[in-house]
Amino acid sequence: LERAVTEVVDLAYYSARAREYERIYSKPERQVELQGLRDVIPPCFSDLSVLEVACGTGYWTQYIANFASAICAVDLSADTLAMARAKNLNPDRVRFLIADAMALPIDLGIFESSFCGFWWSHIPRTAIFDFLGSLHLHLAPGAKVVLLDNLYVEGSSTPISRQSDEGDTYQLRQLSDGSNYEVLKNFPTEQELRIQLGAHARRVKYTSLQYYWYMEYEVAA
Ligand SMILES: C[S@@+](CC[C@H](N)C(=O)[O-])C[C@H]1O[C@@H](n2cnc3c(N)ncnc32)[C@H](O)[C@@H]1O
Repeated sequence: LERAVTEVVDLAYYSARAREYERIYSKPERQVELQGLRDVIPPCFSDLSVLEVACGTGYWTQYIANFASAICAVDLSADTLAMARAKNLNPDRVRFLIADAMALPIDLGIFESSFCGFWWSHIPRTAIFDFLGSLHLHLAPGAKVVLLDNLYVEGSSTPISRQSDEGDTYQLRQLSDGSNYEVLKNFPTEQELRIQLGAHARRVKYTSLQYYWYMEYEVAA
């Protein structure tokens, strides 16, 4: 567990940021697109059991919960999960769980679909294959997966501070208490995404908006 945590993200950053996290959903220039995404994404999960990966404060969980038959939403940070639990979503349908997305618990179960919101961009390129292996162990063949993430937009996105030899890009982020963190944040092209999904996926559909991209696919048998 420790290995995955230190390699994948700075968990301290997300825990420290939990209380102010949802401010990213208030950027004025993004409101129209976000409303469009709130209209389009949750119905993808109508009547399906959903494994939500890295659910954070449960921002998307609350909308998906209106459509899904059941949601198991996991995140590694107890602090973001506390915010998610405070949303008081229907406990008959939604359960929140601490888990490492890179090593999901074996007894998690098998789901009909998965949603990964703003998670893909934080996975080091060299770990994508392992992540897909971990995720797909818990998805039935043909299960529907939706990945939603950011496009890089000059002037609106936090600038990229450096690129590693593996091709991962980083941003320097400051929280309201003045603390600074370097965060891995990748902005893959459609072509890169298709290559990364490779034989894991079929019926892949990519949609790019101005600020966001999302990719839908079915888990290959
Ligand atoms: C950018 S946030 C996305 C939150 C949420 N999905 C949303 O769209 O609002 C990334 C989340 O990944 C979580 N995270 C980081 N490393 C993780 C890991 N190894 N396993 C599961 N969650 C992790 C963080 O705690 C954080 O909540």
